[in-house]
Amino acid sequence: MSDADERASKEEREIMTARVRVSGVVGEIDPRVYGGFVEHLGRHIYDGIHESAHPSADEEGFRTDVIALVQELGVTTIRYPGGNFVSGYRWEDGIGPRESRPRRLDLAWRSTETNQVGLHEFSHWLEKVGSDLMLAVNLGTRDVAEALDLLEYANVDADTAWTRERAANGRPTPFGVRMWCLGNEMDGPWQLGHRNAEDYGKLASRAAKAMRMLDPTIELVACGSSGRDMPTFGSWEREVLRHTFDDVDFISCHAYYQERGGEAQEFLVSAVDTDLFVREVVAAVDEVAAERGSDKRIMLSFDEWNVWYQFADDGTKAGDLVDDGWPVAPRLLEDQYNVMDAVVVGDLLITLLQHSDRVRSASLAQLVNVIAPIMTEPGGPAWRQTTFFPFSLTSRLGRGTARTLEIEGAPRVQSARFGDVSAVNAVATTDETGTSVFLANRSVAETAEVQIDLSALGAASVAVAEAWIVTDADYRAANTLAEPERVAPQALSVTREGDVLHLSLPPVAWAVIRLAD
Ligand code: AHR
Repeated sequence: MSDADERASKEEREIMTARVRVSGVVGEIDPRVYGGFVEHLGRHIYDGIHESAHPSADEEGFRTDVIALVQELGVTTIRYPGGNFVSGYRWEDGIGPRESRPRRLDLAWRSTETNQVGLHEFSHWLEKVGSDLMLAVNLGTRDVAEALDLLEYANVDADTAWTRERAANGRPTPFGVRMWCLGNEMDGPWQLGHRNAEDYGKLASRAAKAMRMLDPTIELVACGSSGRDMPTFGSWEREVLRHTFDDVDFISCHAYYQERGGEAQEFLVSAVDTDLFVREVVAAVDEVAAERGSDKRIMLSFDEWNVWYQFADDGTKAGDLVDDGWPVAPRLLEDQYNVMDAVVVGDLLITLLQHSDRVRSASLAQLVNVIAPIMTEPGGPAWRQTTFFPFSLTSRLGRGTARTLEIEGAPRVQSARFGDVSAVNAVATTDETGTSVFLANRSVAETAEVQIDLSALGAASVAVAEAWIVTDADYRAANTLAEPERVAPQALSVTREGDVLHLSLPPVAWAVIRLAD
């Protein structure tokens, strides 16, 4: 092949046109898919959301600059207080006068928990932020009685010892927590009180039945697998639900992704794993429904998902905890995210929306400093990581009904795990004020010219109200303390011919187009 032919063929290969057509309806988007997760871990609470000496701190010691960023992020619910932490947590340590709260060892993160923030303080913070609380109970080192105590303290409107104590602690009216997680990652050998599926299923069923007797209005989440690669994945869900099917509303899914061995292309298609994860969990839980002849549908609470640089390239855990004297609020899991990580996060959101009929709750793990979209420096600034942008834009623009998009002609990428995969992934959402189309180009090398046919929406008269892209010539670019605004969404150029939108997605890019009157 001559040089000119080679160049021409390369251009042809590198610029392919993806034709995207709005087709069917997936389902209504539950706003709770835009949830977050706050764990007592590292500098998440202390020296993160709470820092009394910070210049921006309010009268309760909460950083108002962080509150503003959490509001901008658009998290609807926040799962609290863990995570692995909850499996050793005594919730009563976090109520009452602060000066008499005990300091405790947190075995999960080899830290000291001062208990200066507990249920009351966290609820105040949530009121300021404007998000709803989703509480996890400790089924690791504790049992049904303690879960009932917490539920009574939080939700009951009657004159009892616990509700009097709540009132004495400044809260006469119930907190009214709607969603409750029955423990955390009980399938994981690392979890305090780890059990097999049968033992956990029986315990979760007993806890759920008792909790519903106390408050029939709550929604309950049973622990599913802490990863699709867990050896018990699938059988865990089936066994747990054989014990809890009548008692719970959700089964949880947790998934973390990272680039390994410099394999950027492989990392970029991580959402294919999420898609399979959802399909396989749905199949497992519906199998239990079929066994019982039930038309009840257990929903998925994808209540931990994110990019997390958890493992070193040799497979060992990065940042394994060492005994360095049980510190308070050490710097743990403070991953710095780049543009490629943001594209993966945006693509994971597209995938969760593609399953809106069954994924009715999800929590980005986590929120501040700990594998987080928001970082802070003690006494210093707070800033947005790259992953902040796809989340905030999707939460703001991706409401209403999720619609499937058919994609033809997109560049392909080859994955060692998933084979031949479309480089372009996309979903659309429609609500009473307009339509949004979310797109990811997961190729490290190829630009995708995209044509979006909106004719199925009858959107001819509707204008492009805004369009954003997260990309960079250097996909390893990140926002840091030294350069906190290095990466930001840029305006995306979109042209229009009738019902067809035209745009160009460079390699490693995530974008949203909003059409509205
Ligand atoms: O989010 C960090 C940890 O990941 C959580 O504590 C645990 O539930 C999961 O393994």
